[in-house]
Amino acid sequence: MLVPRIVTLLVAALAANAAPASESASSADSQITLDTELTLGVKQTPNIENDTAVDANQVAKGYDLVNVSSTARGLTGILKLKEATNLYGYDFDYLNLSVSYQSDERLNVHIEPVDLTDVYVLPEDLVPKPSVEGDVNSFDFDNSDLVFQYSAEDFSFEIIRQSTKESLFSTKGNPLVFSNQFIQFNTSLPKDHYITGLGESIHGFRQEPGVVKTLFANDVGDPIDGNIYGVHPFYSDQRYDTKTTHGVYWRTSAPQEVLIEEESLTWRALNGVIDLYFFSGDTPKKVISQYVNEIGLPAFQSYWTFGYHQCRWGYDSVDELQSVIDNFKKFNIPLETIWSDIDYMDSYKDFTNDPHRYPKEDFKKFIESLHENNQHYVPIVDAAIYAPNPNNQTDNDYPPFHDGIDSDVFLKNPDGSLYVGSVWPGYTVFPDFLANDTQDYWQKCFEDWYKDVPFDGIWLDMNEVSSFCVGSCGSGKLEENPVHPPFAVGDVPTKYPEGFEKTNASEYSSVQASISATASSSASSSSASSTSIDSKNTLAPGKGNINYPPYAINHFQGDHDLATHAVSPNATHQDGTLEYDIHNLYGYTQEVATHKVLLEINPNKRPFILSRSTFPGSGKYTTHWGGDNNSQFRDAYFSIPQILSLQMFGIGMIGPDTCGFNGQSSMELCSRWMQLSSFFPFFRNHNVLSANPQEPYVWSSVTDHSKQTINIRYLLLPYFYTNHYDTHTTGTPLMRALSWEFPNDRSLAGADRQFFVGDAILVTPVLTQGADTVKGVFPGAGKDEVYYDWYTYEKQDFEDGKNTTLDAPLGHIPLHIRGGYVIPTQEPGYTTAESRENPWGLIVALGVDKSAQGKLYVDDGESYEIEESLYVNFVAANNTLLSSSFGSYDASQPLANVTILGVDSKPKNVKFDGNSVDFSYENSTLFVTNLEQQTSDGAFAKQWKLTWN
Ligand code: GLC
Repeated sequence: MLVPRIVTLLVAALAANAAPASESASSADSQITLDTELTLGVKQTPNIENDTAVDANQVAKGYDLVNVSSTARGLTGILKLKEATNLYGYDFDYLNLSVSYQSDERLNVHIEPVDLTDVYVLPEDLVPKPSVEGDVNSFDFDNSDLVFQYSAEDFSFEIIRQSTKESLFSTKGNPLVFSNQFIQFNTSLPKDHYITGLGESIHGFRQEPGVVKTLFANDVGDPIDGNIYGVHPFYSDQRYDTKTTHGVYWRTSAPQEVLIEEESLTWRALNGVIDLYFFSGDTPKKVISQYVNEIGLPAFQSYWTFGYHQCRWGYDSVDELQSVIDNFKKFNIPLETIWSDIDYMDSYKDFTNDPHRYPKEDFKKFIESLHENNQHYVPIVDAAIYAPNPNNQTDNDYPPFHDGIDSDVFLKNPDGSLYVGSVWPGYTVFPDFLANDTQDYWQKCFEDWYKDVPFDGIWLDMNEVSSFCVGSCGSGKLEENPVHPPFAVGDVPTKYPEGFEKTNASEYSSVQASISATASSSASSSSASSTSIDSKNTLAPGKGNINYPPYAINHFQGDHDLATHAVSPNATHQDGTLEYDIHNLYGYTQEVATHKVLLEINPNKRPFILSRSTFPGSGKYTTHWGGDNNSQFRDAYFSIPQILSLQMFGIGMIGPDTCGFNGQSSMELCSRWMQLSSFFPFFRNHNVLSANPQEPYVWSSVTDHSKQTINIRYLLLPYFYTNHYDTHTTGTPLMRALSWEFPNDRSLAGADRQFFVGDAILVTPVLTQGADTVKGVFPGAGKDEVYYDWYTYEKQDFEDGKNTTLDAPLGHIPLHIRGGYVIPTQEPGYTTAESRENPWGLIVALGVDKSAQGKLYVDDGESYEIEESLYVNFVAANNTLLSSSFGSYDASQPLANVTILGVDSKPKNVKFDGNSVDFSYENSTLFVTNLEQQTSDGAFAKQWKLTWN
């Protein structure tokens, strides 16, 4: 029964300190609110929580392998069902098995029903498929470290590593289950395994026994262990006994569940085929590189994107944006990019500007003046397109909807009618990126809007794809639009971070008031529907019961219904593809389309996209942020494993909402987090609508602390960019887990409270409230590694394998330089463009053998087609540093200084290309300065040699 619809004042007004944005976003005095009932799905009991659910391994009988024949690259055969059990779908009688040694490092096991009618096979033109390398008709099997073995009777297979004879993957002992709505296989794992990957989720870096991963794209505010925005069916399995690592990728867009136990991993999917890729590694970094090369190397981002980004939900007008920029300048905090959330839109409609708060003319001038100052602007675009009220002429004047209808580009219901969901502006429709004319449509939307809003990048949000109601709830109801969401728009901050003192009584009481108001208004919305589905009744032939699959995954929404808070599984694409089959791909298809559009608009600028929902290959088109986290210390911590995982998944640039999105931040948390994020690939502060401001200048200490580390980041921009170029060309992540850098040290398995930036910088952040020390480990210290303090350059007396307590008062983030590396720097400016104009420097941190090496990559920082670039190699040994470069890019700034760490005694002579130069010496550090004259043609215009004796 539907409850009567309520007409209510804008709910956002409930939030006492909500920015007025929402009021003027819809100036109506009264507005219809979406019926709460429409947001509720049908309650499902996830199988993993259901004690009476049948374990497929106990019941299914599996397959026998027949008709095996070898091929030039492997083998093929037919899998014959032994006996149907039809547990969570109808079992397929016959399956085709094909095994292919695709390259020396990669092996593919492919299993699909012989009869593919009704089976979703992920098209290669949608998501790249790793393919056979070299001559398809021949292969030297001895070159592959991976070996496929099988048992034909009671089919099982095993992947063995030839060099170690170790079993890497084995389905022995458990039946293969393959039905129209349920596929399952298991592999055994060694005891004390170290599995990482399988995302996206908020979890420590290691996926330890007991973890159940749900892989289903979901718009939900970063719950621990729930399924969130992206889907990445890939894991890395690091084995300390044999000192080898391999990777496993299931190329599928299906809703999935992965169960990790003491000695096994069970993988389940609700549709599709088995398309498994094994990567031989054999180091963690090689595994990542092998995987990422196949799904798509991360996009190369422009130099400016490494600058500091400021965002919030609730910048109410162009004037307010300007005042934020002015404040940054006033406090001399570098600001590279200002962002707009949905506040700029006219009533939350994509491709519009609020005529009063963001009038087009002022807005354009504002952006142009930003550009004059070498700063940038990135606005948000939501996935859903508002479906205007046909009875309201003003409302109805919205070309993005009508153009889309004319070109037939929106998702449909199974009966061919328009699928109408609901998002911020009211009832909405959803671009179907598989439809023939969507690319042109999408391009026109952006091009028209770009004339008024010359943005530098695009932020893609809500693309899981999110919808606040279940099913096509707006069908036949467009005349009610604009319909308001049935919850307070923007979070009401219920939580202060740890240790926050409520000294501001009035602020506290206003928050308390809004909490109670929201609590009562949302009480009904949290109660899930009482109807529940009995899984045993839902078996259906063909594609099956796509709305309520018989096996219920543990989807992180209150009722676990796949349709809750998302476009429903039965939404239909133009080519007949069901959303059920490619729900996990919505964000990806939108990223591909948007990337093309941005290139059309600016053909020779690297497109910058920040997107929420990702899939294997997304990194080729987009960067990513960690989603709606909380202003809590634990979320600052979780941002580390989240970034490490997403980088494994080929997303080259990623960072969290610094200082926290939901809830109230505090001086202490924001200070710690600003310093931490200064070393992440992507650095943006973002905040929810109703929370107190958290720009770094809000607190004087955060201003100081942020400036310190932003300046370090800017000094290191050449190092960041060079490492990013490596990520783009090889897949090797910029930010590194300790277990990747030191893969043979078992004690580092799962270490995720410290990380390396590139090879050379070890970051040990404070991740708890009230601390003034932090513990860190320094792998190899005192043996074959040496670490120097970033701030003092002093060599540290750390011991390998020992937790060392470091001083870390508020405002200090411990940073260490790993000996053996040369780090290129450039004097920081206010913007990245200014920094690029400043003189270069080098930090040479000598290793235990007194040598070091490093590299530098330079180009114009923004061209899509790179015509000129410069590669510089640095080698230090025997008291000599050699710089040699090749390439045509003219990096005209001179070299100012070289700082050499770990020089045991004061040299008598320091010479640059044979000429004596200025230097000083203190605490084993040699400071060579005033090199500008010697390098006035550009620091790396020619080869040079620096000697100290
Ligand atoms: C979503 C986004 C968040 C944004 C908000 C309003 O929650 O994840 O970043 O601020 O929508 O657009």
